[in-house]
Amino acid sequence: AGDLLALTPAMGWNSWNCWGLSVSSDKVKSSAQALIDKGLIDHGWSYMNIDDGWESEKRNADGTISTNEKFPDMKELGDWLHSHGLKFGIYSSPGRLTCGGYLGSLGYELQDAQTYNQWGVDYLKYDWCSYGEVAGSDTSRATYMKPYIVMQKALRDQPRDIYYSLCQYGMGDVWKWGPETDANSWRTTGDITDTWESLYDIGFRQYRISDYAKPGRWNDPDMLIVGKVGWSGNLRQTRLTPNEQYTHITLWSLLASPLLIGCDISQLDDFTLSLLTNDEVIAVNQDVLGKQAKLVFTGDEYQVYAKELEDGSKAIGVFNLSNDYKAVNIKWDDLKIGRVKSARDLWRQKDMAGVGATFTYTLAPHGTVMMKVK
Ligand code: GLA
Repeated sequence: AGDLLALTPAMGWNSWNCWGLSVSSDKVKSSAQALIDKGLIDHGWSYMNIDDGWESEKRNADGTISTNEKFPDMKELGDWLHSHGLKFGIYSSPGRLTCGGYLGSLGYELQDAQTYNQWGVDYLKYDWCSYGEVAGSDTSRATYMKPYIVMQKALRDQPRDIYYSLCQYGMGDVWKWGPETDANSWRTTGDITDTWESLYDIGFRQYRISDYAKPGRWNDPDMLIVGKVGWSGNLRQTRLTPNEQYTHITLWSLLASPLLIGCDISQLDDFTLSLLTNDEVIAVNQDVLGKQAKLVFTGDEYQVYAKELEDGSKAIGVFNLSNDYKAVNIKWDDLKIGRVKSARDLWRQKDMAGVGATFTYTLAPHGTVMMKVK
């Protein structure tokens, strides 16, 4: 069953936030090669997920799906990824068409699952999109679940372990019914974009559903918006400031979110690389207890989150939500996390001196400090 897959959140890459519909086999390989060459693979990054844009215009005469000219040989691509120590992800929709207007799986679910199995697929993102044509105005939970159960059966019929990623923007409180479709993760919101507003709207709402995350079953607040993004192949550096990027990775780590890099890895700069290769930060995301952080304190335009870790310590994130520098003075007692004896700054990988009853720190605009406390 799916809850034996993804015992820690998935880590890897997805093509959408950089290439959009202009993704190709060559672009997937060049990002994969860069993931290896830049050493990301040694920090746990392993899924290479093709999003929308790979499908052919028409199905084959026997109903099977095939690829368009940008993906000459999916089996070869899957083999290539596996031989390089990586995993292979793909995308479809339960509707007639995907969000990008390509062919979906409606009526062909079992055949598609069999094809994915033949190609060596390890991960399926299954995106609601045109399924609205079938659902109509029915907003019942049963209607939301129905197409996801059809594909669940088809996938679980295959000999391969295939991670099942639901993408339906949080409809019907998916965190409540996602596990019944054997999903490994479910998108909780609409699409993210590379602005503070988007990061704020999505990221700082997730605490309400923290109890629903557990090993094999993760809330998914969408992909990372660091590095060069563009959704169309027209790439630009993310519009997030460096401090906002620290906040992004800190929050997604505390939330035990899937970590899917959304940029062109072959153009990754040193700053972004350092953001994605801090093992002490990644360890918080990958902690085997599988708890999502809870909001433990709300101050004047700042918030404090705490995530329980397997070794009995806690990861803490303090986030400055204001546009200015902010000096915070937090009483550990107010966080109700027990007695704090020591604190380590995880981004700097340094123990913090002088930990007393209170914690004083000056945060950058939209910035963060991430700690592990004992
Ligand atoms: C939706 C999803 C995105 C992406 C696109 C592809 O918008 O939420 O993540 O998969 O479709 O068309």
